[in-house]
Amino acid sequence: MRILLDNFSKSFGSTKVIENMRLEVGSGEMLALLGPSGCGKSTTLFSICGIHRPTGGRILFGDRDVTDLPSQARNVGVVFQSYALYPHMTVTENIGFPLKVKGMPAAEIRKEVDRIAALVQIGNLMGRRPAELSGGQQQRVALARALIRKPDVLLLDEPLANLDAKLRLEMRSEIRRLQRETGITAILVTHDQVEAMSMCDRIAIMKEGEIVQIATPAEMYNDPRTAFVAGFLGNPPITFLRGIMQNGAFTMPESEIRVPVSVNAAEGTKLTLGVRPEHFNPAGDVAVAGKVTFAETQGRENLYDVQLNGGSLLRSIQPVRNDVHVGDDVRWAIDSRGVLVFDENGRRL
Ligand SMILES: Nc1ncnc2c1ncn2[C@@H]1O[C@H](COP(=O)(O)OP(=O)(O)O)[C@@H](O)[C@H]1O
Ligand SMILES: [Mg+2]
Repeated sequence: MRILLDNFSKSFGSTKVIENMRLEVGSGEMLALLGPSGCGKSTTLFSICGIHRPTGGRILFGDRDVTDLPSQARNVGVVFQSYALYPHMTVTENIGFPLKVKGMPAAEIRKEVDRIAALVQIGNLMGRRPAELSGGQQQRVALARALIRKPDVLLLDEPLANLDAKLRLEMRSEIRRLQRETGITAILVTHDQVEAMSMCDRIAIMKEGEIVQIATPAEMYNDPRTAFVAGFLGNPPITFLRGIMQNGAFTMPESEIRVPVSVNAAEGTKLTLGVRPEHFNPAGDVAVAGKVTFAETQGRENLYDVQLNGGSLLRSIQPVRNDVHVGDDVRWAIDSRGVLVFDENGRRL
């Protein structure tokens, strides 16, 4: 079921949170709303779900205008960070509750609960209460409860935030599998770029109530429209150098650095150069000298921060090596084909 936010606005009193947002999520698509805390992700999700009433604009599911419908009439499944299970009910009762409220006969409820329990793989936990489940198991129950009514739309607000790292990894692929198997249209709210990149077909990056770019994870990573977007995706994050355009190259007056760039910018224009850590290493084509100020091994790769003359910082990610330490002088190089060029306001050139 397609979701369309058409000129959607939401204020709380005089606080405008979202103004004239347009967002379309294709049928069967999983889209991430990604952005820093407080940018309006949950406000948008709660409005789609019917918890908040929009101040302006329309929300459509398919061709149906649901703007004025209460949450129960929208046929949405919702999962929150705090699983919000009923503590006194067993897993079976928790999952079946939405059907019981609808007045479905007990035998039918039982059949549906069994079907969905198999789908989320919790068949062996059905008699337990939430307190007797791990965080990951509780989240599976919450997912099952959200899916049992065969909702048109699945809305997830930071569903993995309370899980430890290993479980988060497991539930990432689990939620994606469920979304694919059911073919349900889904929106995932998250501030975690790795989650957004790994789970979703497309990402909408939000900043201060606005969608600043919407694209597939690969497009977003390789072709960010602004420095904000470039800085939001990638771990460890991109580093930025400030300089000017001189003779067809990004130039830092206080250092030797000259990186040829093919952008349309007048001589002397202030530029910001984005260099991802995979584009600064011994193999690049533009030599840069500096001092290692941070070194860390992540098992398969090493991370380094290198401070250049003049104080700027470049980050490097390389296969594990044991010959470079904090305090060493290094002469590595930027891969000029990988750099991203922005104007001084952070707009991509
Ligand atoms: N019920 C509310 N009343 C007043 N302000 C709110 C309410 N809910 C959210 N806000 C404000 O709206 C902004 C966006 O919040 P939210 O959508 O929760 O952000 P996010 O989910 O991206 O972290 C914040 O400044 C927040 O303080
Ligand atoms: Mg939120």
